[in-house]
Amino acid sequence: MKKDIRRAVIAGNWKMNKTRPEAKALIEELKPLAANAGCEVVICVPFTNLETAVTLTEGTNVKVGAQNCHFAKSGAYTGEISADMLTEMGVEYVVLGHSERRQYFGETDETVNKRTKAALEAGLKPIVCVGELLWERECGITEEVIARQIKLDFFSVSAEDLKKCIIAYEPVWAIGTGKTATADQAEEVCAFIRATLAKLYGEETAEAVTIQYGGSMNAGNAAELLSKTNVDGGLIGGASLKAPDFATIINAATNG
Ligand code: 13P
Repeated sequence: MKKDIRRAVIAGNWKMNKTRPEAKALIEELKPLAANAGCEVVICVPFTNLETAVTLTEGTNVKVGAQNCHFAKSGAYTGEISADMLTEMGVEYVVLGHSERRQYFGETDETVNKRTKAALEAGLKPIVCVGELLWERECGITEEVIARQIKLDFFSVSAEDLKKCIIAYEPVWAIGTGKTATADQAEEVCAFIRATLAKLYGEETAEAVTIQYGGSMNAGNAAELLSKTNVDGGLIGGASLKAPDFATIINAATNG
């Protein structure tokens, strides 16, 4: 029961949505709604909106994140963005290992591990996503899948660095499907993630790490999910594109 020592973090993952004018409008709508948030508020926007987001949120409590970064410092990687390029702009967070990147863009635990280390080295706070597929849950191997991802994604990451990371538990079957994990299912896996971290890093480190739930979290179900002991925040897709809905989730985290 150490929920009170952890940062509650509500992060929006805009995915591939919003042109610059649309991003500007959404951020301007969100800013006053998030002004009294009792949790950390992050918006993870497409690369093309990062500069807009950093400029518009300056002096506010809304932080900006990217949705990926490459693991090399620089070089011949056409189409890629380095971690240093992000920190230089004022970006603080980066989503890594999202299931959509694993599914559509060949992301593996090995590359998630490399990206996590590169992001930490550049001073970014990684939001590392883990989660099981539906058939893995049905086969009863959810815990094996999650433990494997945690061990591989954080391989050779120090305890000190781990505390700078957020882990997002996103069951793949709940993403964009409208099928939310029940609060008990979310708590069960988030608690398992913490127990796995405790085995690897010790209790004190494990208790300090913020663990989010993601997957069809919305204004209606956020309060119950966020009330759970090991659910310290949320990574929100669809509902983060509507400022009032996202604000309701922020308020739920503030009270939860
Ligand atoms: P949805 O909230 O749209 O299900 O997306 C969740 C997600 O993938 C956040 O990263």
